[in-house]
Amino acid sequence: MSQDGYTSDDVASLPVPLAVFNHEPLPPNLIANVKKDHSFHLYGTLDIPQLAKSATDFIGSNAKVNHELLEDVIVRFLHQAQDDCKSNAAPADAATITQSCWLRIRMTLPCDDWVEPRWHNDGRMFDCSCSEPRVPHSNPYVRQVRSEKYWRERSEVAARFAGCDEVNVERGQVIRFSWGQDDSPIHSEPDCTSDERVFMSVLFGKKDELRDMCRIREMVYDQVWLYP
Ligand SMILES: [Fe+2]
Repeated sequence: MSQDGYTSDDVASLPVPLAVFNHEPLPPNLIANVKKDHSFHLYGTLDIPQLAKSATDFIGSNAKVNHELLEDVIVRFLHQAQDDCKSNAAPADAATITQSCWLRIRMTLPCDDWVEPRWHNDGRMFDCSCSEPRVPHSNPYVRQVRSEKYWRERSEVAARFAGCDEVNVERGQVIRFSWGQDDSPIHSEPDCTSDERVFMSVLFGKKDELRDMCRIREMVYDQVWLYP
């Protein structure tokens, strides 16, 4: 049994820790002129048309966007992610594993926060209730106290990984990676010294699992939360 509670047979059936999807370039002039740092979170029902509309409205409230094209891009992203998740699920879970989701959008202005990479991998969030734990779902929600120790350790890790090969990912390219496992990919925000950034992620789970995430995070299921 691994430290994650998986047996060796379970681990053998897990999806690969990292999948990089085909790059479909985003339409030009999709999003421009981000106004401020702003984030969107929704823990709730996976209703793709409704989520795409809410996400488009949110991004449009904080940037100049082509609404029609953006909504279409988000619909395609969510369908692609859902199909991928279901295709990796055990048959008994395929119908329920994407009942609910955590959709997160993080919009940031150019900043030098990530000139030095923040290499990390993400921990588990909820105990998976799948019949076979084939699809790792966990959560990067770690309340990081930005102490002296945090900055020192971040620098030490950055120095250790400097010069290592990185996966080549284009702007707008969709990737999927596991969280909370020994081989979960190490990742960081990109250097955005001169770039506005709109980052979107989706985590799927059964309704009870997402409700549990809400309980842990003191969120309300099916209610959008904006920050700051
Ligand atoms: Fe992360």
